[in-house]
Amino acid sequence: MPSNFQGIEEARSLINAAGKIVVLTGAGISKESGVPTFRDADGLWEGYDPMQLATPEAFHRHPELVWRFYNHRRNALSTVKPNPGHDALVRLEKLKPNFTLVTQNVDRLHQGAGSQNVIELHGNIWDMRCTQCEKTFEKFGQLYDTIPQCEDEGAMLRPSVVWFGEMLPPGAMEKAQEDTIQSDLLIIVGTSGVVYPAAGLGQIAHQSGSKIIEINPDDTPLSDLADIELRGPSGEILPLLIP
Ligand code: OAD
Repeated sequence: MPSNFQGIEEARSLINAAGKIVVLTGAGISKESGVPTFRDADGLWEGYDPMQLATPEAFHRHPELVWRFYNHRRNALSTVKPNPGHDALVRLEKLKPNFTLVTQNVDRLHQGAGSQNVIELHGNIWDMRCTQCEKTFEKFGQLYDTIPQCEDEGAMLRPSVVWFGEMLPPGAMEKAQEDTIQSDLLIIVGTSGVVYPAAGLGQIAHQSGSKIIEINPDDTPLSDLADIELRGPSGEILPLLIP
């Protein structure tokens, strides 16, 4: 099928030839669903910089404020649907069962589309976790006026996302690294490639001899590692790659 995007045919050949495929996604894949990306996003929420609210210190000092911010984010995400880019990755997993999807996104749109083997490097916004005992409460998606407490401990619950300065969920990065080392192909979609350790999967793939395809409208610090750079929105490019 002819396409306007340079490199599509070569990228398809790499996909056909690959046994194990790892896909790394960032906020860009959800952009066409209407979710703003981090670094393109402009504007404040109620006068606050969202990046300043997504920290353990902010939650410690102003728990109600941070809780309201996450109510706002869950509310905004509750009406959002996966787009053709998410759907294409579901087809890719069916074609290539030896497949891992590593995402930095907390929106759960990959799972909503039907992706199965997903590693969430930065947690997700729908689950909650106890600030004391770390117990996780799944799909706690409702909005709350007051901060819910852990049933056992009476401690505050918090969104089960990774905040700035925090460790990644135990085992998530290790599994993502192992799968990347074993992969024949890493497809990097919609990430600015500046947040580590996630962005380090690009170097790991490169060093272990995997081919790399990058899908992004813009150049990123990972572009130099890529064998093929597909420049454009992932909601258009991924369906061309995986019809
Ligand atoms: P960024 O906002 O840093 O980057 C989004 C990327 O998506 C940019 O490179 C855009 O060029 C690209 N993009 C924009 N529109 C696109 C489209 N339609 N199709 C494909 N790509 C598109 O988001 P991330 O790289 O995900 O961490 O940011 C990484 C982490 O930084 C986030 O997970 C978050 C943030 O701090 C935590 O919350 C821990």
